Amino acid sequence: MPFSTLVPGGFAISDDPLLLDLGVIHRFLSQETYWAKGRSRKMVERSIAHSLSLGAYASDGEQVGFAQVIGDRTTFAQLSNVFVLPAWRGRKLAEGLVAAALEHPELTTVTHWILRTKDAHGLYQKFGFSLTEPDVIDMELHRNLPPAT
Ligand SMILES: CC(C)(COP(=O)(O)OP(=O)(O)OC[C@H]1O[C@@H](n2cnc3c(N)ncnc32)[C@H](O)[C@@H]1OP(=O)(O)O)[C@@H](O)C(=O)NCCC(=O)NCCS
Repeated sequence: MPFSTLVPGGFAISDDPLLLDLGVIHRFLSQETYWAKGRSRKMVERSIAHSLSLGAYASDGEQVGFAQVIGDRTTFAQLSNVFVLPAWRGRKLAEGLVAAALEHPELTTVTHWILRTKDAHGLYQKFGFSLTEPDVIDMELHRNLPPAT
């Protein structure tokens, strides 16, 4: 049974994969973001197939926002690929997406949430996210992809 919630302004947020507009998601991620520029449609689809995705929808069903949760659905989750299409910004839709992720019934036992952002710290701080202490516990690995992935 898909999870869905209504947010002010007549928008709905749902985790139903059948509602996702992969064209909108791929276009935005591959063309408009600083973190996924050039990502192939195949990679976007594969990533969505292996994670929990939330879409934000206008009353006519148009997809206007997106957020993805990657993790084991038990202890750890990474919030990623959060966006709201430009025409729909400033209506608390991103806040609705983050709230829906944190409150999602499949994720109630997740205690460790991470995310990366260049400039949207204020959005996530509203939900208790804070900057991690650098160089103390967190480690990361950045690998270059082989050509034609
Ligand atoms: C960031 C983004 C998702 C915000 O979407 P939105 O629906 O307009 O945001 P909301 O209306 O829910 O409100 C966001 C709140 O976070 C705050 N905020 C902090 N940093 C922000 C940022 N970089 N952009 C927009 N809002 C930001 C806003 O001030 C607002 O709080 P306020 O109403 O108290 O002023 C949207 O601007 C977007 O898609 N940007 C391009 C993609 C991106 O950068 N995504 C985030 C990657 S980590």
